[in-house]
Amino acid sequence: MRKALRPLALFAAVTVTTVVLATLHVFKPGTPKAAVGSGVKLGDIYRGETVYSQSCASCHGADGGGGVGPALVGRGIPVTRIKSQIDAGGGVMPAQIVSGQAEEDAIAYVASLTAK
Ligand code: HEC
Repeated sequence: MRKALRPLALFAAVTVTTVVLATLHVFKPGTPKAAVGSGVKLGDIYRGETVYSQSCASCHGADGGGGVGPALVGRGIPVTRIKSQIDAGGGVMPAQIVSGQAEEDAIAYVASLTAK
């Protein structure tokens, strides 16, 4: 009977640890320096990752390594450029695929990718 409880205890411990770490945002990266003073509002990186995977990854690659669209990882693209590209589009990239909060979140995530 005791043995049967062990996996349950382990599961509970892992769950609690995960929730605590997620709540505290222990591993949340800071605001990329590129955003300071630019006037571009950065949203939430984690929500941005979801927005990116739904609206951008098909062209820019799941990891930002590029595809139909250019690679974004490690390119040091300024946030003002990221925002204007989303707003105005360019090439086969349609304008305003995302806007409002989703756009701010996406910019935060792409800024973290391009700063890598
Ligand atoms: C239909 C394919 C497609 C989708 C979807 C798409 N892009 Fe693009 N993206 C492109 C292409 C193609 C370019 C190059 C456009 C050009 O040359 O003007 C580009 C350019 C960019 C650039 C500028 C890169 C540079 O070198 O300066 C950024 C930043 C960017 N996209 C971000 C995003 C984000 C963020 C999303 C999601 C909200 C997104 N893209 C969705 C195709 C796409």
